[in-house]
Amino acid sequence: MSVSARDTFALTTPLYYVNDLPHIGSAYTTMAADVIARFQRLRGKRVLLVTGLDEHGQKIQRAAAAHQQSPQEHCDRIASGFRLLWDRLNIQYDRFIRTTDPRHTAIVYDVFQRVWDQGDIYSSQQQGWYCVACEEFKEERELLDDRRCPIHTNQVVEWRDEQNYFFRLSRYQAILEDLYEKRPDFIQPESRRNEVLSFVSQGLKDFSISRVNVQWGIPVPTDATQTLYVWFDALLGYITALLDPEDDPKLDNAVKTWYPFNLHLIGKDILRFHAVYFPAMLISAGLPLPHAVFGHGFLTKDGQKMGKSLGNTIDPIQLVDRYGADAVRFYFMKEIEFGRDGDFNEQRFVNTVNADLANDLGNLLNRTLQMTHKYCGGVVPVIDDNDTTLMNPLKNLACNLGKEVSESYEHLALHNACESALAVARYGNKFIDEQAPWKRYKQGEQAAVRQILYAVLESVRLIAYLLSPVIPGVSTRVYHQLGYEVDFNRSELLPEFAVHANWGALQPMQPLAQPSPVFQRLELST
Ligand code: MSP
Repeated sequence: MSVSARDTFALTTPLYYVNDLPHIGSAYTTMAADVIARFQRLRGKRVLLVTGLDEHGQKIQRAAAAHQQSPQEHCDRIASGFRLLWDRLNIQYDRFIRTTDPRHTAIVYDVFQRVWDQGDIYSSQQQGWYCVACEEFKEERELLDDRRCPIHTNQVVEWRDEQNYFFRLSRYQAILEDLYEKRPDFIQPESRRNEVLSFVSQGLKDFSISRVNVQWGIPVPTDATQTLYVWFDALLGYITALLDPEDDPKLDNAVKTWYPFNLHLIGKDILRFHAVYFPAMLISAGLPLPHAVFGHGFLTKDGQKMGKSLGNTIDPIQLVDRYGADAVRFYFMKEIEFGRDGDFNEQRFVNTVNADLANDLGNLLNRTLQMTHKYCGGVVPVIDDNDTTLMNPLKNLACNLGKEVSESYEHLALHNACESALAVARYGNKFIDEQAPWKRYKQGEQAAVRQILYAVLESVRLIAYLLSPVIPGVSTRVYHQLGYEVDFNRSELLPEFAVHANWGALQPMQPLAQPSPVFQRLELST
């Protein structure tokens, strides 16, 4: 089915290397992508979230050998680890592309042919320092002492001197510069854009797109003695993922419905590939460019770079098993400004999540529900729309919330979306303390009590709705307490709740459930 660009939203995570099981960095990008996808679905768009795995290349070949497995066996084992984590983290992905899928080879060949026909591929000698962990050549000046990679600081780079096929990137210098200027949103956030501008201004060099001594890869179609460079193959995986199951694996079929992507979400370490190499490859192949590439920051643990050699990695499966998906998703989305580096500390994680979800949001709902049962017969209080004087301070704040939060999600300021919603919960607590409905009830001010309780219940509902992309489980429980049947994990049912993005959806007289905690306090595990 063909759909207009306006009502669809297609986005990707990176295609993760399968050298090892997923780590918290891969989980971070994927959680953010899922939040964005859920937000777009909530606002009625048809969404396609693509994730998957980058399975070729020397790095994977070596990882398999180290486990005494064939590369394919190794990839299959790791692939199930990724799928398991995405299930645990409640990631609703639509496509899971693996670059070892034979259909992918067909798409890569179609693109290769187009690029070849443009005269953008030629054979030449490649010499240089190569980081296998990055799968990237490094300039001598980028290297640390002892020729270590600046990203994989415990790995030394390896010398390469071989005959390869090259992509004529230099030809795209002016075209790319023009693109960045005309479309300032193409690379986000601004800081990443500046990095790319500065890199490109140093002059773009052609790069080799084949390898002689790597068997685990897609053979170069014009030369069976070489395999394609893993990045040339992997970036095209995004396009392969767009094939419908019944489609013939042809480039034209892949790009017919969802292409071009609205957003490629990546970490800052793979920015050049996505913001320089990939657009040049696409232009060469005569394909439209994505709308945006967003490069997020890097995570540290307790202020330190994470790594196996440092022994301070975080196992995302363990984290979810201990604390639940909503808590993990919430912490990373709210505590880290999206686009900047951020830190994980377990104590801060427990404190933040308890303060925000258990106290500010959960307790507010809990005590308000109790009062509503006591003072208003367990139904949503009936209020006089002509007299909202008492509740106006809370209502006015909450009335702007829908717009504010939507704009934040739209601009990928995911932390701001969370913060704005929580600010209303904090104000709700203050409001109810100041208004003291328990006192007013004793004084016989029933209309006032109804107004206060309605305002708080409605605010909590709105917060739950707007945060449902981040904490779908908590939001669903809040909604159940408020007497709704909705499940925020069932996106097909959400369009009928579209009016819920604004103040006033809670209907007077709706029966409410008995209060029970929507979020169990976390205990720091020892
Ligand atoms: N296979 C390539 C991507 C190809 S896309 C066509 C790759 N894979 S990766 O598994 O190494 O990295 C995937 C993502 O994890 C990247 O976006 C990277 O930035 C992210 N992270 C890896 N470590 C990270 C942190 N410590 N913190 C945050 N994200 C980091 O690159």
